[in-house]
Amino acid sequence: MPKRALARSTLFVTTLLIAAPTLAAGDDGIVIYNAQHENLTRAWVDGFSRDTGIKVTVRNGDDSELGNQIVQEGPASPADVFLTENSPAMAMVDHAGLLAPLPPATLAQVAPAWRPSHGRWTGIAARATVFVYNKNKLPRAELPASLLDLARPSWKGRWAASPSGADFQAIVSAMLELKGEAVTLQWLKAMKTNFTAYKGNSTVLKAVNAGQVEGGVIYHYYSFVDQAKTGENSKNTALHYFRHQDPGAFVSISGGGVLASSRHKEQAQAFLKWITGPAGQAILKNGNAFEYAVGVNAASNPALPPLTQLDAPRVDAARLNSKKVVDLMIQAGLL
Ligand SMILES: [Fe+2]
Repeated sequence: MPKRALARSTLFVTTLLIAAPTLAAGDDGIVIYNAQHENLTRAWVDGFSRDTGIKVTVRNGDDSELGNQIVQEGPASPADVFLTENSPAMAMVDHAGLLAPLPPATLAQVAPAWRPSHGRWTGIAARATVFVYNKNKLPRAELPASLLDLARPSWKGRWAASPSGADFQAIVSAMLELKGEAVTLQWLKAMKTNFTAYKGNSTVLKAVNAGQVEGGVIYHYYSFVDQAKTGENSKNTALHYFRHQDPGAFVSISGGGVLASSRHKEQAQAFLKWITGPAGQAILKNGNAFEYAVGVNAASNPALPPLTQLDAPRVDAARLNSKKVVDLMIQAGLL
């Protein structure tokens, strides 16, 4: 770069830092590739835009779809920010070298348990694995002690899941990390024999509620969201938390990251700082997403059992591998 151009770009950066996070007139704001629930992201975006005046365009999709799209687009991606439902898709984008480091001030807002130590993305919310069961069909005494128990012949035909979804695949990625490939593949093969497939966790919840199946492996919020509405799809159900650091007690992290190729980095970083800060995390406490807050000292929705009491296994979210999970699930005939 010629010296004068370098000087000019340094000046530009300095100006931007002082003026941050406002955008130049005519700028169309930041683009978020969003795989989180649309309602939650909408609440975050509305609050952020109200507080900062920064415009935001949201493109919705699911974890693997948008993660793969970012990898394919590479540095030409129009995305400034990527928000995931679960962390494996974020790890995939990170492994492709496409994320910018987050500043210490943002990272310091999130409890270390809910973000990878490398600091290239952070947790923005968390979700707990549960076994939802039909109270009229399954006595508490017969609940599985471990997620691994659902592979036993005695569980044949009695449980459900949504294997094509990012939520369930994140749970499998945790099992893979905790128990290794051989145990995970064996469990997935037994699952193929034992379980009933539904598309989407809401459908699993409905099927359990209707008594079509005794139980299902989903995340906690599907039930809380339904309860906060009419409760008609969950009234016959209860949630069983596996606890005891079981693979079935896995708490999955929703991720937020800024793309290294972003042309609005200051604004994109401001968004990550906002959603992980007090205002963004308060939306998790006061809104109807029913996902857990991950901010330091941030309270979650009081309807939820405290995250610290779920006795989740320690899993390094940066190591969760979506590609290997898909390979194993294909081998087991689940995909
Ligand atoms: Fe979900």
